[in-house]
Amino acid sequence: MERGTDIARAVAVLRGGGLVAFPTETVYGLGGDASRADAVAKIFAVKGRPRAHPLIVHLAPEAVLDDWAIDVPEVARKLVAVAWPGPLTVILKRGPRVSPAATGGADTVGLRVPAHPLAQALLRAFGGGIAAPSANRFGGVSPTTAAHVAADLGDDVDYILDGGACEVGVESTIVDLSRDRPVLLRPGGMPREAIEAIVGPLARADAAAPAAPGTLASHYAPRAEVIAVEPADVPAAVATAARPGVTIAVLAPHAALAGWATLPARLYALPDDVDGMARALYAALRDLDAEGVDVVIAALPPAVGLGEAVGDRLRRAAGPREREP
Ligand code: TXA
Ligand code: MG
Repeated sequence: MERGTDIARAVAVLRGGGLVAFPTETVYGLGGDASRADAVAKIFAVKGRPRAHPLIVHLAPEAVLDDWAIDVPEVARKLVAVAWPGPLTVILKRGPRVSPAATGGADTVGLRVPAHPLAQALLRAFGGGIAAPSANRFGGVSPTTAAHVAADLGDDVDYILDGGACEVGVESTIVDLSRDRPVLLRPGGMPREAIEAIVGPLARADAAAPAAPGTLASHYAPRAEVIAVEPADVPAAVATAARPGVTIAVLAPHAALAGWATLPARLYALPDDVDGMARALYAALRDLDAEGVDVVIAALPPAVGLGEAVGDRLRRAAGPREREP
């Protein structure tokens, strides 16, 4: 696989039915032509992802929403007018330009206009929708640099567009607007507060409004065991996890670590603000895996702004170790 910033080359790969990894402001995506069943099948194969897990279709800023979705409610138009380009995915009824293969056969589709300049250059030059999950193997930690993508996917991706480190660092927020009220399927890069200011209170995905496969189970998990706790509970969690031969790391904001210098753990500092935590989180989990750390005790941030998404990813990384079928 090669890496660079050659948009023409990336477009040629997509037109040939191949796969291009590309940067977005959230995480890197593994992209294929959303209108081609063969390209979409390749994405599922490379990711090792169950076919029933739908993919997000990425669009250029100039794309016409009604080409990709049908029965678009007014609230969706209001929301994307403010949120796009940006870290928000909306679920709408699927339009005819989307291959049913991309949505796992569902009659809905996830759509997003990313803000990263290279992603936009690619989407404009390609001229169609690009179906893309995060560019990691199924269940693992999403990549926030081109080097992460290369390490995860190697030659299974035909070209990697290298746009540097992702600004936001966690995946897009997913809001389902195909139901009778807006439902938050996944907290992410656009804070809930900003969305609710436009659409009103978001319902939670629950038994009455179940999330799609892949939005609830264990996911975003590094090799190390992750234990997510409130900051005050970190010392007790380290004590509980301590065993001979087990390497423990504490992942917490820089300011919190000062009080824990004597803990028998490798202290890994994240920025003190929740935006900085989101930006640094996935690289931190990868660093700790590379160091061979066995257990990561992670301090949960307050659930405000991007803190909700950071807490969500830490809890999922800590979740049941089995993967979904
Ligand atoms: O920030 C992001 O969203 C990144 C970048 C590359 O855009 N993409 C990403 O894709 O995180 P992925 O495939 O790793 O996660 C997409 C999630 C999945 O959990 C999937 O179940 C959900 O979106 N999803 C996609 N289409 C859906 C649909 N029609 N209905 C419900 N959920 C859907
Ligand atoms: Mg993913």
